[in-house]
Amino acid sequence: MCVVLAATQRSMTTMWRLGKWQFLGRTAQRGSVPCMRRVGYGEIMTPHLLTTPIFYVNAAPHLGHVYSALLADVQHRYAALCGRDTRLSTGTDEHGIKVQQAAAALGVNPSNFCTTVSQQFRTMFDTMAISYTDFVRTTEFRHTEAVCHFWKKLDERGYIYKGLYQGWYCTSDEAFLSEDQTVESSDAEGNKIRVSVESGHQVHWMSEENYMFRLSQLGPKLLDWLQTEPIHPAPFLRIVRQWLEEDLPDLSVSRQRNRVSWGIPVPSDPSHTIYVWLDALINYLTVAGYPDHNFTPWGPSIHLLGKDILRFHAIYWPAFLLAAGLPPPKKLLVHSHWTCNGVKMSKSLKNVVDPTECIKQYTRDGLRYFLLRHGSPERDSDFTHHTVRKLLNSELADALGGLLNRCTAHTINPGQCWPYYQCNSEPSAAHNELQGLLGAVKELPGLVDQYMNRFQANKALEAIDSSVRCSNAFFQSQAPWKLFKGDEEDKAWGQSVLYITLESLRLYATLLQPAVPILAKTILDRLGVPDIYRTLKGNVFFAATLGEKYCFQGQTLGSKCGLLYPRLDLD
Ligand code: ME8
Ligand code: MG
Repeated sequence: MCVVLAATQRSMTTMWRLGKWQFLGRTAQRGSVPCMRRVGYGEIMTPHLLTTPIFYVNAAPHLGHVYSALLADVQHRYAALCGRDTRLSTGTDEHGIKVQQAAAALGVNPSNFCTTVSQQFRTMFDTMAISYTDFVRTTEFRHTEAVCHFWKKLDERGYIYKGLYQGWYCTSDEAFLSEDQTVESSDAEGNKIRVSVESGHQVHWMSEENYMFRLSQLGPKLLDWLQTEPIHPAPFLRIVRQWLEEDLPDLSVSRQRNRVSWGIPVPSDPSHTIYVWLDALINYLTVAGYPDHNFTPWGPSIHLLGKDILRFHAIYWPAFLLAAGLPPPKKLLVHSHWTCNGVKMSKSLKNVVDPTECIKQYTRDGLRYFLLRHGSPERDSDFTHHTVRKLLNSELADALGGLLNRCTAHTINPGQCWPYYQCNSEPSAAHNELQGLLGAVKELPGLVDQYMNRFQANKALEAIDSSVRCSNAFFQSQAPWKLFKGDEEDKAWGQSVLYITLESLRLYATLLQPAVPILAKTILDRLGVPDIYRTLKGNVFFAATLGEKYCFQGQTLGSKCGLLYPRLDLD
């Protein structure tokens, strides 16, 4: 087995650099079924750091935060599965007036308050198996050091000056807004207030002497950066282009310390606190090792974020980086929101779904699957327990769980072994069906790869689910349990059907590992797949159809695992 493997892997390594999946159409001696193998890609092989937003510690984590972290986690795990050098950072945003007020409201010291809530985020991400390689807190020393260094760079390069700032401030978004970014509204008691057009949160007028950043000078450079199409999905790129066509005023980047005391002081002037968004965005450099000049290739990185904070990431952040003489971000992956009855789930609206409660009902992988499969970067998704239950029953319990049961059941497979593929390919209806199935399955890894590269984990999962359904249909129509009662030829075909089904399930489970690591492991364990065959780098599928001898044939299955995912009650 090792020899065959080694030879296969050597040729794989060469092809790995070529890019894309390849389906090898070589005709086997006894069958005419092509075989596919992973051949890798160019750009994606470079090391990268994926980041999530760092979350405000003014309240406990909710489903929206979990979703962001999960999307980043699945990209990170997928890249690792392809053999890419990848890191994932997340963390908490702990400074600013919003956190200062939340701590004051509870009558607690802000530092202790931050530690407690930051730990809640960390625990939640651990529970959800977010495989972060770094967790940054903006109150850490390494971060303060990075922020002060960065501020000095902006100052030295002439991008900071002192001026009178007058305008609206939205504490909830920690955002400075122009007159036309606000609108009149009324609060719950019917009092007239002004709110942010974008978020609907209340704004207050402020007028104070601040340090200002020369954002107005960076418009052309930002447009150049946009030419590289760094923002996905495309509709968000168009929004940013539109913003840049509008006025781009200079940005206030400090607050007077007597108003905002919970934050990093301006290095040359401790009577000012650095604006919390400048402070927060620099976390992406802190985790890359900045200000150590060897911090590349980890920064500036691939940032994943919700659409609510697009302006900060797509205008302010690249502008700050360019002003400091650093390259702008490689990519921004933007996602839409989870809503409850059509309204954005948010701490301030108190309409949030508690992830812990969901994990209790659906298991961790159940929740992961639902969020990834039903959520969409392009448009908002509404969360209802009925939708969760219907989707998990249909895709995890019935389709995937059903396929696992079918091909491993003792009644079908009393020897509990991978059968031998022994297909004498004479044209027949059965063979056409097999070709049909393989035709669909051969496209799958390439399709998943494309979707993952386009930041569409939901579509990748949809494609896997539809292949699972093809395999179930193939198994059902070939009915190996009947074939095993027939003549020698029928029996041989029955064995081949079983082999193809097991092998397709091995492919699905391999591809599902980033999304549902525990469920995928359950399947791969049950199929008796050794660890070296669980990656996408150098893994060959359907090799027996090329006449290769071993490739699991004759190998015993793993031990019984029970139901993969029990059906949920629909009420
Ligand atoms: O904005 N649906 O932190 P934050 C989907 N500290 N995702 C949601 C969501 C929802 N309903 N609600 C929140 C901040 N999110 C800043 C970020 S980064 C340098 C600083 C997710 O605690 C989404 O990713 O308000 C959103 O962008 C993020 O949480 C905002 O979290
Ligand atoms: Mg927010």
